[in-house]
Amino acid sequence: MNIVVIGQGAIGLLWYHHLTKAQKNSVSLSCSASASSVPKHYHFTDLNNHSEQGLLTLANNTTLANADLILLCVKSYQVKAAIAALTNKISTQAIIVFCHNGMGAYQDLAKLPQPCLALLTTHGCKITRPFHAQHTGLGHHDLGLIAGDISPTIRDELTATLAQALPTLSFTEAIKDKQWLKLAINCVINPITAIENIDNGQLLDDKFKSLITKLIDEIIAVAAYENINFDFNELKASILQVATNTAKNCSSMRSDILQQRKTEIDYINGYIVNLARKAGLGVPQNEKIIQQVRALEV
Ligand code: PAF
Repeated sequence: MNIVVIGQGAIGLLWYHHLTKAQKNSVSLSCSASASSVPKHYHFTDLNNHSEQGLLTLANNTTLANADLILLCVKSYQVKAAIAALTNKISTQAIIVFCHNGMGAYQDLAKLPQPCLALLTTHGCKITRPFHAQHTGLGHHDLGLIAGDISPTIRDELTATLAQALPTLSFTEAIKDKQWLKLAINCVINPITAIENIDNGQLLDDKFKSLITKLIDEIIAVAAYENINFDFNELKASILQVATNTAKNCSSMRSDILQQRKTEIDYINGYIVNLARKAGLGVPQNEKIIQQVRALEV
């Protein structure tokens, strides 16, 4: 496939690295304007701590025009600008895959002619310095259609291309349920670890029990308004399982705060608060935690 990866963050480089390894793909990387200088090579450290360098093939108007697949690996608050920059440069047949945390960024956009999919990850990956990514935890990807149509043949080709590059990955018809589960996990783990400046595993401490319960109760009430039904105990167990599996990880929101970057809070707990307003529901704990994260943002 002709693939353009947008964004040189951890997830962008994780995909660029694995997709370029498959000979049959033609892959290029489109870097954000924030990159002060773009080197000729990138570095990637794998799960066995083995580092290698690879050639950076940069996207241009031709690779964008020929792209079968656009992998949009930017933060949720950069999605709108990234899509605006692609308008009139990509084919209406190109498939756009959104790889960001949180929800609501896609809904901010005017309807796109291209088929749009969401890709949810549980991999751990971080940027150790510009254009150097380190894979820190093996995970799984779920891929699902969020707008438009794709034929079964193209869906299978896309799924196979991505799954061969970075297993395991599966196509799901239940992407909305999975997006909500990921959202709920991020709503609890990300702000608490960012505010407390702790690794994900420290969330299992009893002192966070009551806060976690309040956040989950509010999320369940808002999700029900969207016809997503969570069971309290199951949801809590899933969240704590992710905290256990990623115990030594620094959450993306904590990394954003530590590196003085804007966080994705508006698309995580902010998404819950916006929906709660529409539904006439009170979500004081989510509102409070947003204020606490905002106070840490520069
Ligand atoms: O945003 C993150 O950091 C991750 O989605 C997760 C699952 C919370 C693990 O750190």
